[in-house]
This record gives sequence, C-alpha cells and structure tokens, in this order.
Amino acid sequence: MAKPGIESQYCAYINGEWIKGGRTLSSLNPADRRDVVATFGEAGKEHVRQAAAAARKAQKGWAATPSPVRAGIIQNFGRLVEFNKEALARVATREIGKPLMEALGEVQEVIDTCNFFVSEGRRLYGQTIPSEMPNKECYTYRRPIGVFGCMTACNFPAAVPSWYFVPALVAGNTCVWKPSEDALLTSYYFTELMVKAGVPRGVFNVVLGEGPTTGAAFVELIDEGLFDKVGFTGSTAVGRRIGEACGRNLQVACLELGGKNPMVVCEDANIDLAVDGAFFSGFGTAGQRCTSLGNLIVQDKIYDQFVDKLIKRTKAMRIGEPTDGTNTYGPLMSERFMKTHLGHLESLIEKHHETPLGKGGWIGHGVAWENFSGNAEEGVYARPNLVLNVQLKDRIYATETFGPIFNVMKFQNMDEAMAMANDHGYGLSSAIYTNNPQTVYRFKNEITAGMTSINNTTSGAEAHLPFGGNGKSGNGGRQSGIWVLDQFTKWQSVNWDMSGKLQLAQMDTAYIEPEMAYRI
Ligand code: UN1
Repeated sequence: MAKPGIESQYCAYINGEWIKGGRTLSSLNPADRRDVVATFGEAGKEHVRQAAAAARKAQKGWAATPSPVRAGIIQNFGRLVEFNKEALARVATREIGKPLMEALGEVQEVIDTCNFFVSEGRRLYGQTIPSEMPNKECYTYRRPIGVFGCMTACNFPAAVPSWYFVPALVAGNTCVWKPSEDALLTSYYFTELMVKAGVPRGVFNVVLGEGPTTGAAFVELIDEGLFDKVGFTGSTAVGRRIGEACGRNLQVACLELGGKNPMVVCEDANIDLAVDGAFFSGFGTAGQRCTSLGNLIVQDKIYDQFVDKLIKRTKAMRIGEPTDGTNTYGPLMSERFMKTHLGHLESLIEKHHETPLGKGGWIGHGVAWENFSGNAEEGVYARPNLVLNVQLKDRIYATETFGPIFNVMKFQNMDEAMAMANDHGYGLSSAIYTNNPQTVYRFKNEITAGMTSINNTTSGAEAHLPFGGNGKSGNGGRQSGIWVLDQFTKWQSVNWDMSGKLQLAQMDTAYIEPEMAYRI
C-alpha cells in the first residue's frame, strides 16, 4: 500500500480497500501553508453509495460477531492508538494547527474512549422483567441499528470520531465516515489504525471530500434509505438540514452542533481562578472548540477588576508555532476558518462595543501581536479579541464565532445572569464561578445547557460523561459514556409465554379486590 503523502489520490476506503479517484484535495499546514501535508482524491456520490452498500453487506455478519469479540477489536485499536499517540498527535498538529499538548490530550481521549467501551462489549446489558401473567417472562435486548453514516468536523479530528465509532462498532453497527476535508491525513491514519486493529472488510468505510460536494451527496443519500442512523458534528445550519432529512425518513439523527457557551462570574468567586478559566476556555484551541467560551457574564461589583486582569493576562499571551509548548494557541485550522473569523469581526462588532485588544484580525496582514513567534506571512494566525458592552439584543451575543474572540457582559442580579446565559438559544456547555451554594443550585437547575461546570471552564469535558447539547446545539442526543448506547442500539422487548394457553395482558391479569370501605 502506498504511503499517504503528496502522491496519494485515495478518495475512499470501501470494503477493505483504499480506492483512488476524484479531483485532488490538498491538506495544508495552517502554520505554514507552503507545507502540503497530504493530497487525497475526492469521493463522489457513487463512492458514498458504494461505501454504504459495503457497510450494508457487512452488517449482519458484524452483528452476529459476539460483542466481546467486537470490543476486542476496539481494544486493539485503543492499544494501537496508544503506541502511536505522539505520531498521531503530531499529524493533527501539523494538519490543523492544534497545540501539540492539546493534540496529545485529544489522542488520549480516543484511548480513554476505547478503554471505557472495551468492557461494554461484555455488558451491553438488557433486562429480565417480571410479567403480569403466570408462567411468562419478559426481556429487553439492545440490538444494533444497522448502517451508521457520520460526518465530523476538523477541530477534534480523532477524539470526536472515536466518540461515534467506538460505541457504534461495539454495538454491532457498520459505518460510513465522511471526515472533515481539513483533517485528511489524521482521518487516513485513524482509518489505518482501525484496519490494523482488525476491523473486518466492509465494517468501517470512509469517503473523503468537502462539505458542499461529498457532504451534500451524503445528505441526499439519506433519502435513498442507505443509512439507518446518521451522526453529525458541525454547524447548526447543516445540522438542521441533516435533522430534516433524517426526520422524513423516521430516524433520529445524533447532532452535535454549535454553542455560545456562557460563563457566569459572581462577586463572591475566586477571581484569579475565574480569570484562568475564562482565558483558557476563550482562547485555548484558538476558541475553536464547540465548548469554547462565547459570553463571559461578570457581576457589576467585580467587573472592572475582572476585565482588567483578563486584559492583562491576554496581552501577555504567546501565540505561534503549535509545537512550541509556551504558546497558548497556534494558527486557525485553515484559511477557511480565518475568512469566517474576519467576516465576524467586520459584521458583528458594533459601534457601542469596546474592543480593548484592538479590532483583531489576521496577524501579519495588517495587525501585529507582541508575543508572536510564528510565520505571519505563511501561517493563518488570528489576533485575540474581547468584545465589551455586549447586550442581549446584539447579533454577536447569539452568534457562534468559533475563533479567539468572546463577549463580555455585565450583570447585577442572578435573574439577569440567567437570561444572559440562556437567551441566545444554544445549550451546549456552561460554567459558573461562585462560592455560594444557593447560586450554584439555581444555576444548575435553570441553565438550559447540556453540560455545566462549577468553578471550572466551559471546555474540557471528560470522556466518560454525557456530551451534548439542547436547543440550537443539538437535538438532545448525548455522546460519550454509557448514555451514547441509546444512540447506537434500539431496544427490543421480548415476552415468552410458557403457560400453553392464550393469556391476554390487562384482560386476563389477576386482580385482587380490596375492602376499600375499611377505615380505622
Ligand atoms: C468539540 O469541540 O466538538 O470538552 C469537542 C471539550 C473536549 C471536546 C470538545 N473534550 O472541550
């Protein structure tokens, strides 16, 4: 098999083979766009159809494979990922500019996810349930759903796919994956590690391509009934289209969409801890996590002090080469993300906003950053931004920006803080910094987000907890931990009547008449 690289024209992995074709897609290093990380081909609609057909053909055999054996392959995958941890992290760093330390953390999340689900192959518990009839037993079984089609984003090019495919495979589903066009080489190695782990032919298939082409074909094929379950991590707008297509085919998609994650800082909070939290969840990963901070909501009494500390901390931030551990963030994931980021700066920041760090922009392209050490000409590095005086009515309040920029809002009482934390309509992650248990109690009850941190940041969810959002952030589905099994299995309810006669539920059920008139 040819090594991936400049010469590779692979566009899909179908039924156990890499196949070539399509127009050429180049994956560029966003820290230095002269570095072509890899080139691949682009899969067309027919490739997606073939991939789904291969998955369909393999599904029965895979479902019939004992689940501890399926999970054994996932154990192999996890171990292989562990042996290749640094190499895979370096590929991700080179391809999407994620700081190496964070990329190592991301690969660890893949390993953790495998470790968690390996034993699940030996559980996948159903229940035995008493019947209301004599000589009758009832049971529940988790059955695989079938063919799982999934499209993922590039910001977590290994961890998020593992959240989907590890449980989906353990549960007996076969898969078709369209990874992000910005993380082609990471996806290639993810696939190779699956293959080397022993995943049989047809069980795991991949189609490479861009969203508007291969992705659009993928969505169109939902209407041909090629997938029994669809997963998607990406924008709310695309998620809506996928949800619609799945809905008319009577399926429930697993959607992980955008966020405008709030962090409330109360006057009784540990201020330095909260500054650390705001800084990391706002600027870590250059703000390109679904869980990144969107609206920082600070109580009026500590507002000036808090914002001063945050500005000071941010001004000292080092930006540059993602392999240099002293930099908080590296480049944006690709030029595409820079264009969107610049568009947001142009269109969302209004006159009444204050931007104490400057208006932001593309470092080296008209703007500078003091502690910068990357290649400004060839890299896509963004200057950080804070937007002050943001109000509920402002467009930037409720628009996901997905870059190193977040809003700062001022509140007086918890009624105001709760409105600011919820009214944008997203509901992925959230955080509160306070030492008052009453305030914590109210916040965790009234926040609409699927995830809430207390005295911790909005990002950095642990791999065995339910991950997912509500409102514009998703359709209530959860990934990670045990809860994700409800995405990848359907419950079968079985009853077994051994009485030898027709016993009708509700009608033939014994009823013992009480002496209802009895009183003490
Ligand atoms: C994402 O941005 O899609 O909670 C996933 C976190 C990471 C995962 C983020 N563990 O920030």
